[in-house]
Amino acid sequence: MVFMQKQHTAMCNSLIDRLRKETALSFDEYLFLIKNRDKCADYLYKNASQVRESIYGNKIYIRGLIEFTNYCKNNCFYCGIRRDNKKADRYRLSSDEILSCADYGYHLGFRTFVLQGGEDAYYTDEMLCDIVQQLKEKHSDCAVTLSLGERSFESYKALRNAGADRYLLRHETADPEHYGKLHPPEMSHKNRLECLENLKKLGYQVGAGFMVGSPFQTEENLAREMLFLKKLNPHMVGIGPFISHKDTPFCNQTSGTAELTLFMLGLVRLTLPYALLPATTALGTIDDSGREKGILAGANVLMPNLSPVNVRKKYMLYDNKICTGDEAAQCIECLKRRISATGCEIEISRGDYKGEK
Ligand code: 5AD
Ligand code: FES
Repeated sequence: MVFMQKQHTAMCNSLIDRLRKETALSFDEYLFLIKNRDKCADYLYKNASQVRESIYGNKIYIRGLIEFTNYCKNNCFYCGIRRDNKKADRYRLSSDEILSCADYGYHLGFRTFVLQGGEDAYYTDEMLCDIVQQLKEKHSDCAVTLSLGERSFESYKALRNAGADRYLLRHETADPEHYGKLHPPEMSHKNRLECLENLKKLGYQVGAGFMVGSPFQTEENLAREMLFLKKLNPHMVGIGPFISHKDTPFCNQTSGTAELTLFMLGLVRLTLPYALLPATTALGTIDDSGREKGILAGANVLMPNLSPVNVRKKYMLYDNKICTGDEAAQCIECLKRRISATGCEIEISRGDYKGEK
């Protein structure tokens, strides 16, 4: 028995060595690592940290997240701001409110803003383009990232022309059948992937991603995620644990774990060495030191909240979300303290992708 375990550890470690060297494994090899992760997690994190460090040094990039609307026309089974959640207290920020959040963030040192919201038709292309344009005019040294869900090619194009640099759209799962179990029938996996392709064509830096431990997800699904990401080759990869929300159809589903999320972060760092990889708020929610552990597993981005404190609790995608009570300035201080414990430090810049593109 002990002999078998040692043999498995040696096999895992040699797979990790090869992944680091070649930045790809087969489906079966990824699956083997995921299934035997208890025997090689520390070795993976050591390698992932070294790779992060060799490309990005000890710098952790900071993005200011502005959650500007929690209205959403969609009905994803997992999400707390889904259309049918009648208990959600809905809000929208005005253009001026969004811009003053960014001004405040700029003053704190942020040079990337992420405008995120539910799929809310109240904000027309015209309004959104105007906000992006004004933001870029006021702060020309900043990057603007959008995270507004699925839109038409024309809409993505208009926003790109208005100055948007990056777009985050998690694919949620690489498996269309699994996608169907997480979303109502009117939502289409095919359309989501087409959106990602369109964003790439338009020259956005693109972020994809998925939840770890989402209902019905198997270890085989996770191995497929790695092959999918390798092929898509996004600039950014958002990975966080699924956390159940009490007012959704998935209220009784088990949440994902920090342990598995960290392992997936490590695999992504070795598969896409240049990726911008956030240690997410969801990871910090299921484990008090989740974000620090995320950095030690290969992550290199943090996305603190810049939304006004009075709306923060309303952008509840999942239960018990952290950092909903503090001012952004306090969040930064807290993050600086937490990050210094990992040997890394916060970098105040646009934090551009360092790979070839
Ligand atoms: N738990 C964790 N992450 C969630 N998201 C939405 N709902 C949840 C949840 N219950 C993630 C989705 C979405 C991103 C904005 O937040 O992956 O793409
Ligand atoms: Fe809004 Fe999923 S509930 S996009």
